Amino acid sequence: MSTSRLFSGIQPSGIIHLGNYLGAIKQWLELTKKYDSIFCIVDLHALTVRQKSAELRKNTIELAKIYLALGLDPQKSTIFIQSQVSEHTELAWILNTLAKLPELERMTQFKDKSIAHKENINAGLFTYPVLMAADILLYDTAAVPVGEDQKQHVELARTLARRFNEYFGETFVIPESLIQKQGARIMGLDDPLKKMSKSAVSSFNFIALTDDAKTVEKKIARAVTDSGREVVSGSDKPALTNLLTIHSLLKNQTIAQSEKEFVGQGYADFKKALSLEINKFLQPIQKKISATDDKTVLKILFDGQSRAKKLAEKKMKEVKEKVGLI
Ligand code: AMP
Ligand code: TRP
Repeated sequence: MSTSRLFSGIQPSGIIHLGNYLGAIKQWLELTKKYDSIFCIVDLHALTVRQKSAELRKNTIELAKIYLALGLDPQKSTIFIQSQVSEHTELAWILNTLAKLPELERMTQFKDKSIAHKENINAGLFTYPVLMAADILLYDTAAVPVGEDQKQHVELARTLARRFNEYFGETFVIPESLIQKQGARIMGLDDPLKKMSKSAVSSFNFIALTDDAKTVEKKIARAVTDSGREVVSGSDKPALTNLLTIHSLLKNQTIAQSEKEFVGQGYADFKKALSLEINKFLQPIQKKISATDDKTVLKILFDGQSRAKKLAEKKMKEVKEKVGLI
């Protein structure tokens, strides 16, 4: 195919939240029209944080169902599980020999996770971005749509690609991150200064895509607001800005348009409308998720595996030759 390649992935480590959707998956849907797209479920990355095996299996299938329910079309894009294409770890090893310790030590996600998981600062957590670079580079990826927090990792993939190309000759495409202007960083409902995160201590931090209507109402009702009474955004109003961002993205309109809807209304009215909007979005998706059976999903994932494997094998063969492996 002559169109350029797009690659992205999400870890199957439990909750998929509105931040994942608005920051990443929402733009995937648009981009599939323009790119030859590959969407991965990065289960090997998930292992860098302790997982229960039965849960990891369940979450992997669940994430595939979520991809499908959100509208990714397996006819038009490749959807597969990272661990089912062994070239990812093979290339990661080679890239590990090119990545420098200070480069990895600088990664903010590593620093954050080292604090959050003090008892388990494993080597996988440290080389996590190298495996991510392998994911990307293996497929001659031009575009990597991710949320703001992953930009640094894509930068490292670019550095490693350039380094490899310089030393061994032109092999990898230099990828670029695609980051949305709005929604790149959806903040926590309980703390609008930190990003919405599945590893948050309190479930009041996020709206999971699987939250039922009552839970959504409760979480939005409890969401932190700013001082003042008007429903407006601004740098001094991080909480309202975040809630308005969510509202406007769900309605495919600007923040200014959302603000206009609530002129003369208070926080309570706005929160009610926002809950309604979120539930209007979530309910059909939840229906689709529960209507998809495991067998159908597995078949789609195996199809995806065989398509991805063909591309990965070809690239890996080239890499091995360039490096001097027999
Ligand atoms: P993760 O949840 O870390 O596996 O992230 C999956 C995708 O969602 C990545 O592209 C992230 O950049 C994106 N993402 C995660 N959290 C947020 C957030 N709070 N706001 C925007 N995008 C996010
Ligand atoms: N590290 C990404 C995250 O936590 C997930 C990921 C792994 C990824 N490999 C990737 C994203 C390749 C884009 C491309 O969100």
